[in-house]
Amino acid sequence: MKGAIFDLDGVIVDTAKYHYLAWRGLAEKLGFAFTEADNERLKGVSRMRSLDILLTVGGVTLPEAEKERAAAWKNAKYVEYISRLDAGELLPGARDYLTALRERGVKTALGSASKNAGLILARLDIAGLFDAVVDGTRVEKAKPDPEVFRLGARELGLAPADCVVFEDAAAGIEAAKAAGMRAVAIGRPELLPGADAWIAGLHEALG
Ligand code: BG6
Ligand code: MG
Repeated sequence: MKGAIFDLDGVIVDTAKYHYLAWRGLAEKLGFAFTEADNERLKGVSRMRSLDILLTVGGVTLPEAEKERAAAWKNAKYVEYISRLDAGELLPGARDYLTALRERGVKTALGSASKNAGLILARLDIAGLFDAVVDGTRVEKAKPDPEVFRLGARELGLAPADCVVFEDAAAGIEAAKAAGMRAVAIGRPELLPGADAWIAGLHEALG
């Protein structure tokens, strides 16, 4: 491994709960319940695609302009939550593993679907741990498309085969494999098939 590319939400930082609270708030406003089990389907999925899934769960159809407003409402709620993030919400092993890799000369990149990645990295003061940052503001196609990881490898100056992706979402594992990279899943094989290895979190990668 010459380069390690990390997903953000659910790999580096525990933000899934805030995405969930914000989506649940939107569902309440629209008059239906949205459970944590429903929320599993949104992991790794782009904001607008997540909204489509949520509306399907509620059996609600909205015109395009309303959908834009609904997504903006959800994001404003989410940003309220993550504006208060602190280092305690970094996942176990994240900072130490990134630091250890860099000390070994492995290049590091972020490969996230989130358009809020910049804010999260700033809140946690970890932007300096990445040689390249590729997020949802920089790609056209969302995971499972490989664009985000291909761009990450390119910015590190590495071939895809020399990069390993760390991901907690099925769409992200699919994207990593489509990019020609090895994929380490953060989670269980039943939920994340197709990866090359499975760990419970980056603390296990520290070894
Ligand atoms: C991914 C999350 O990292 O980013 C998804 O797993 C989220 O749940 C997606 O929908 C887009 O994030 P944002 O911050 O741009 O709405
Ligand atoms: Mg994730």
